[in-house]
Amino acid sequence: MPQHATPPARADYGFDAPGIMLGLLLGGGAAVLMGCVIAALAPGAWRYAGMVLLLLGAVPLFFGLLMVVYAVVGKVRTREHILNLAKLRGDETVLDVGTGAGLLLVGAAKRTQRGKVIGIDLWASKDLSNNAAATTMRNVVAERVADRVEVQTGDARELAFPDASFDRVVSLLCIHNIEDKADQARACREIARVLKPGGRVVIGDYVPTHAYAAAFAGAGLTVMQSKPAFGVALSLMWIVVAEKPV
Ligand SMILES: C[S@@+](CC[C@H](N)C(=O)[O-])C[C@H]1O[C@@H](n2cnc3c(N)ncnc32)[C@H](O)[C@@H]1O
Repeated sequence: MPQHATPPARADYGFDAPGIMLGLLLGGGAAVLMGCVIAALAPGAWRYAGMVLLLLGAVPLFFGLLMVVYAVVGKVRTREHILNLAKLRGDETVLDVGTGAGLLLVGAAKRTQRGKVIGIDLWASKDLSNNAAATTMRNVVAERVADRVEVQTGDARELAFPDASFDRVVSLLCIHNIEDKADQARACREIARVLKPGGRVVIGDYVPTHAYAAAFAGAGLTVMQSKPAFGVALSLMWIVVAEKPV
């Protein structure tokens, strides 16, 4: 992986699902604006149509704004929460599944001075702005953790690691991108497979994580929690934590 002689000034972890976010903001914003104009200026019953348009536009606009709030504030808060739940001592081998620009990867590396952190991803551009291994490595270099970080291209559904390779597996906003529910469960089973006995997995996603929890339980893991963390993410977020028995 090429590294820069001069590290860039600061890391940039991008916007999740940028197309959806822009669509919600622009579509919702336009509907709200048109609704306001119609409600204010149109004659008679047309005013009610304007109010309906305003209300219909407010819903996508709200969710678009939530995505912005998450990207600007919630992302780092969620990262720290997930890494707290991972209970890192500092010498672990950690896997970040769907690392994107390396948000959890870099955070985990900062907490594992004597460990090793690997991030894998398919680099889907629809899922994250500027999604590429080179972007991730720029962030890794900017955050000065390159000595203990590795970035690989890989698929969560078929992890290219032997059984029991990792002390911790973390993942944020990745699994829901796998379209087929059966493949999502397969990814969870793969995570369980590469986890060492005594190891812990922490996954955050913007959809309820109970199906992931069920897949982990089916793979023999002990599920510690699967619950919302809206207050942490300032957006939709559920977090599942599970451990592999020794
Ligand atoms: C919304 S981004 C989140 C990135 C990062 N975890 C974060 O929180 O900033 C989802 C990431 O999952 C990756 N992804 C989607 N499906 C994947 C799969 N089957 N295997 C590995 N990565 C995948 C996408 O390429 C994208 O980088």
